[in-house]
Amino acid sequence: MANGRNEDNMIFGAILAGGIGSRMGNVEKPKQFLFLGKKPIIIHTIEKFYINHDFEEIIVLSPKKWISYTEDIINEYIHDADNVSVIEGGKLRNDTIMNAINYIEEKYSLEGNSASDDSILVTHDSVRPFVTHRIIEENIKYAKEYGACDTVIPATDTIVESNNNKTITAIPNRDFMYQGQTPQSFKIAKLKNLYNSLSENEKEILTDAAKIFVIKNEDVYLVDGEVTNIKITYTYDLKVADSILKENL
Ligand code: CTP
Repeated sequence: MANGRNEDNMIFGAILAGGIGSRMGNVEKPKQFLFLGKKPIIIHTIEKFYINHDFEEIIVLSPKKWISYTEDIINEYIHDADNVSVIEGGKLRNDTIMNAINYIEEKYSLEGNSASDDSILVTHDSVRPFVTHRIIEENIKYAKEYGACDTVIPATDTIVESNNNKTITAIPNRDFMYQGQTPQSFKIAKLKNLYNSLSENEKEILTDAAKIFVIKNEDVYLVDGEVTNIKITYTYDLKVADSILKENL
């Protein structure tokens, strides 16, 4: 499927759908399966990856009891989805990413410790359906070049820090503040090695894969995101997403 396949240089997509969407309130399905326009949110997201022919395989990670449902909707909405697989996500978001890496290593016999292995993993929240082709392309480019990159937009509001949740402890200069989005993309071997060097305690706190690189003093390149690349977290976000979708039509 992918163009110019090279054993040491494959590109994989991981659509992270292992969460249950508790902040969305009492809905009948995890939020990634709710409808946005004419199809489930996660289908919009997978389609953005599916149309990019750089991907050797797109791995969708969903909660165990939703795996067959995820497969069903992929077959229903995406025809000939031969390079899309569904596997089980993990307890924490980073566990979900590690499940994707373990699957890739096993299936493609990647040697996790090999420095020569430049295979890339583009990880993306299943609930960010408005990611663009440009963002995905730049993630691939900068992950190849720098080993890791993260998609961000400049902070528009002033960011206020409070260590005690009561009073302000710092107001960082807004010019240096960004809001993190996804994709976050990495060289697989590098992420695996860094992750394995974390203590169990660190693994618990590091819910963000880019942060694993940061605390280990590794560079993470910034990719320009888009204000429309929103994450659907609350019911309100679904309304915003509906408006964005209508604008795009
Ligand atoms: N995610 C995942 N595996 C987990 C937790 C989250 O793949 N163990 C995914 C979610 O499915 C989502 C993305 O990471 O696509 C962003 O996380 P978030 O918006 O926090 O999703 P949930 O954990 O599902 O939401 P909530 O925190 O409201 O329960």
